[in-house]
Amino acid sequence: MTKAPRPDPVRAAWEANAEFWDSRMADGNRTQSELVGPTTDRLLGAVQGRRVLDLACGNGVSARRLARMGADVVAVDFSRALVARARARGVPRAGKIRYVVADLTRPATLDAAVDGPVDAAVCNMALMDVRELRPLGRWLAGRLRPGSPFVVSVCHPAFNGGDVERVVTERDDDGVLRDELAVQVRRYLTPRRHRGLAMVGQPVPHLYFDRPISGLLRPFLDAGFVLDAFEEPAFARAGASDRPLSWSRFAEIPPILVVRLRAPPAGGRGVSPTLRGAARSRPSRAR
Ligand SMILES: C[S@@+](CC[C@H](N)C(=O)[O-])C[C@H]1O[C@@H](n2cnc3c(N)ncnc32)[C@H](O)[C@@H]1O
Repeated sequence: MTKAPRPDPVRAAWEANAEFWDSRMADGNRTQSELVGPTTDRLLGAVQGRRVLDLACGNGVSARRLARMGADVVAVDFSRALVARARARGVPRAGKIRYVVADLTRPATLDAAVDGPVDAAVCNMALMDVRELRPLGRWLAGRLRPGSPFVVSVCHPAFNGGDVERVVTERDDDGVLRDELAVQVRRYLTPRRHRGLAMVGQPVPHLYFDRPISGLLRPFLDAGFVLDAFEEPAFARAGASDRPLSWSRFAEIPPILVVRLRAPPAGGRGVSPTLRGAARSRPSRAR
């Protein structure tokens, strides 16, 4: 008797969280509307009439924003439940979105879902949740038109990773006691995986794959991408109901990192193995 394949624990957590995630995220929480959305849109530039990939689209929050700006969006996620939730939210009038189920770590599923070249790509708040990045780097290098932007936002690897604690410290400042918010970083360089929450109250903790910034970028740089923008947005103000250690209170420490990578020139190093039949670099795992 053949054994049934074991379910992928990375995907299983997202399937279990899909309903909660969609109801909380809806058309954007504060991180999306104040940090991710504005920074991504600025780095991406004009998308009117362009074919844009939204990678790890979740409930489609970025896909709908891009469609409202006139993009022809192909939105990809490996969670069937999240893709179903995204579809159920509809497509903005005059916008175009095609949702597809595919796994960013398995280029063959991406090839089956996305045909032809694309003009731009985004991956918002997801690469720290993706087990392996090298297959995506190589695939995307072969799919994006030369020089096209790939904009990535992630939890800031240095300040908002797994082995980091947000703390309140008290300092005697010439006789005046002052509370200060700080971040304690215990470990940064060695990739590791752990479970955690992206939203307080989510039913199941999901897997994070912590990597230093160099480890996050290397799979794309090795595939021929060029880094040409690097931003670290932080919240300008805390909301009245925010928890004492909410990121919105850390005006001087960025919870997210947003970068723009440019696809390699035609004939550059990033050749998609599935498109052109040549594997160039060894896949590596976060752990
Ligand atoms: C934190 S959510 C972000 C969703 C959305 N981009 C947003 O900004 O709200 C991370 C997403 O990554 C997706 N994901 C994780 N690993 C993936 C993989 N290997 N392939 C495709 N999607 C993946 C999850 O299903 C989930 O939708």
